[in-house]
Amino acid sequence: MYIEVQNACKKYIQDGAEFTALDNVSLDIEKGEFICLLGPSGCGKSTLLNAVAGFEKLNSGSIRIDGTEVSKPSIKNITIFQNYGLLPWRTVEKNVELGLETLKVPKEERHQIAAKYLELVGLMGYEKRFPHQLSGGQQQRVSIARGLAVNPDIIFMDEPFGALDAITRMKLQDDILKISRKAHKTIIFVTHDIEEAVFLADRIVVMMADPGRIKSIVKVPLMGHRDRTSADFLHVRDKIFELFNMKSDEYIEYVI
Ligand SMILES: Nc1ncnc2c1ncn2[C@@H]1O[C@H](COP(=O)(O)OP(=O)(O)OP(=O)(O)O)[C@@H](O)[C@H]1O
Ligand SMILES: [Mg+2]
Repeated sequence: MYIEVQNACKKYIQDGAEFTALDNVSLDIEKGEFICLLGPSGCGKSTLLNAVAGFEKLNSGSIRIDGTEVSKPSIKNITIFQNYGLLPWRTVEKNVELGLETLKVPKEERHQIAAKYLELVGLMGYEKRFPHQLSGGQQQRVSIARGLAVNPDIIFMDEPFGALDAITRMKLQDDILKISRKAHKTIIFVTHDIEEAVFLADRIVVMMADPGRIKSIVKVPLMGHRDRTSADFLHVRDKIFELFNMKSDEYIEYVI
């Protein structure tokens, strides 16, 4: 298995008391899978994502990627956050080239790679602009292009479209789905939006809070290209909604 999370436990101290953010979470992810972590606020989605990405240490349990225990963030993987993380003093193309500079890619090649990914996310012609001259959706596209430019193995995304309006959000969902199918990347994507998870995921990991744990792992029975208005799509969405609202302290076996 490509990513193996075994009995992950994470506790925080809050007001002097111990709080369990992840309680015995186990999850296997295959290479090339698109996984959505779905659940209400505070259920540990970001904690789990950050642990797999190497930003958070577990109290117990283990996380392995390609057989190697995760202990710190890897240069082979990238994380795209909600706030885009662009450098305001750099132009669009210079932002996209950032990771390539770290990798010591020569200037001319950096330029070509940046152009290729800016085209992929529909930002040709915006190379010389600065982040503040772009809309939120365009800024998020720059951050996606920057992430893809380093040809990562795994892309971690924590509610990357949360701050965007519904139309821009749909457009970027379309883009990321296409990119993930084309480039065959492993993507772990956090959301609390059921429809977004059904649109994007191969499998949805539904989580519940206090303590943070997995309620169910559901395979989405839809093909690569998805139509938000089709009967199949709406059926799956309704089934996930039902699951979301089910009361249970136990793991639920759920097949759609
Ligand atoms: N550094 C910290 N110190 C103490 N408690 C924390 C810390 N980080 C997270 N928590 C707590 O752990 C729980 C899980 O947090 P996490 O950020 O993983 O939730 P989430 O599912 O991502 O929520 P949201 O949808 O609101 O982003 C929350 O109750 C949160 O208050
Ligand atoms: Mg979060």
